[in-house]
Amino acid sequence: MSSGVHRTTRRERFREVDVVLDGLLESCFVPADKLRVEDWATSDALAASEFAVRVLRRYPYAEIIASDCVLYLLKVARTSQELLILESDGSPLQYVRPPFVVSLCTDERWFYPINRMYRWIGQKRFNEFARVVGAMELKRLRTVDELTCQSWVIRKIQLIHPEAERLRQEDSRFRVELHDAFTASRERCHVLRVMNLYNPHVIGDSAVAAGARAVFDSLAEGGIAVIGRNDEAEGGACHATVFKRRDRKLVPVVRVGRGSEVEGVFTSDFPPAR
Ligand SMILES: C[S@@+](CC[C@H](N)C(=O)[O-])C[C@H]1O[C@@H](n2cnc3c(N)ncnc32)[C@H](O)[C@@H]1O
Repeated sequence: MSSGVHRTTRRERFREVDVVLDGLLESCFVPADKLRVEDWATSDALAASEFAVRVLRRYPYAEIIASDCVLYLLKVARTSQELLILESDGSPLQYVRPPFVVSLCTDERWFYPINRMYRWIGQKRFNEFARVVGAMELKRLRTVDELTCQSWVIRKIQLIHPEAERLRQEDSRFRVELHDAFTASRERCHVLRVMNLYNPHVIGDSAVAAGARAVFDSLAEGGIAVIGRNDEAEGGACHATVFKRRDRKLVPVVRVGRGSEVEGVFTSDFPPAR
């Protein structure tokens, strides 16, 4: 993404965490409970849909909400020879002019002069687009799949995994929504998972603290939060901490692998919101 965040997907990515959670949920909730379960920064929602299937098997009245700040990208074209790939808010990602695909958010190296030239053309094309298509038109794409604006054709590229999309269509208890993982949820939840987002090396310490506050404010008393990440250098091994909200604190109750590296931020005191 233009923020430098990478997305990875693979089946059973959080298996170790899911198994631990199954046991913990059983000890905390009964099948008749109407649980609200959220998976923030869910990317393609595949892992969330796998988790949803496990939860719904035991908790038929639960609702599972997978969310991310980017649910689709945009493919923008004015001619058949070239196109732009943008984020849903219009931030430029790539310029495509087959056989070339160049990034519009990172620099091309000086020893690739042709790529640099295409990057320059791509930026020019993007500026032409941005002059005529504004935030209002891009917002309309939340409800339609395609839009034509002064000869620019804008189409959505859905980022939801087909399996997650199928579950969403077949079972209204599983939803995929837009949500900012640094803002508290509209409603208190019983289980909240955030994997591979609150990494201080990528987003900085103050953003991790803001994320911890949002998680704390979103949890019901007795609710469970799972914070962690996969270490790709260790073949994707999962390191996560499971917390329980007790009184005005998040208390670690289980660790998977080495636990979360930002555990200390999540166990700090959260003063009452003003
Ligand atoms: C590294 S991916 C992790 C995805 C998924 N949780 C996983 O572990 O497979 C980070 C995700 O965070 C999302 N993201 C980045 N900033 C966000 C924000 N402020 N609110 C919600 N999601 C965000 C990105 O769009 C991306 O899907």
